Amino acid sequence: MPGKKIFDSLLDSVRVFSASGLSPDEALDRVCRLLKEAVPYYDWVGFYRVAAERELVLGPYAGEPTEHTRISFGNGICGQAADRAETFVVQDVRRETNYLSCSPSVRSEIVVPVFAGNRLVGELDIDSHKLAPFRPEDREFLEEVARLVAPLLQHKIPE
Ligand code: SME
Repeated sequence: MPGKKIFDSLLDSVRVFSASGLSPDEALDRVCRLLKEAVPYYDWVGFYRVAAERELVLGPYAGEPTEHTRISFGNGICGQAADRAETFVVQDVRRETNYLSCSPSVRSEIVVPVFAGNRLVGELDIDSHKLAPFRPEDREFLEEVARLVAPLLQHKIPE
């Protein structure tokens, strides 16, 4: 389990990517790969952007391709987190009835909304193959990542 030092150094890297002058999607792609590589129980790391008509559209991600490239608000963990505009931590996806499965290996998921001011512009979604791996430190860390990448997600409006 990464400690505060590791999370802090990952946040430094996220700050560097955000300010790097890379295109928004290249920078988000680096963030996904960094988080997936650095944290052993982050098995799928991706971003969704909010589109018109209360819909989420898949952006950059690291991990297996997913069929859930568009998700309506209210559907699955991602859609519920968008609807309520709050972080969802699901330590055991088998206990969730409103859940969209990306892979049978996934055991748990955390979805963190990304805001630009008060406006929801996207989400950071992490799937894990471990049961109940997410601690308060993960949530704090990922909510800070969400704050740092907000300008990259709001930059491009999906169709
Ligand atoms: N499991 C999510 C769908 C997105 S995938 O995890 C990439 C959900 O229930 O909304």
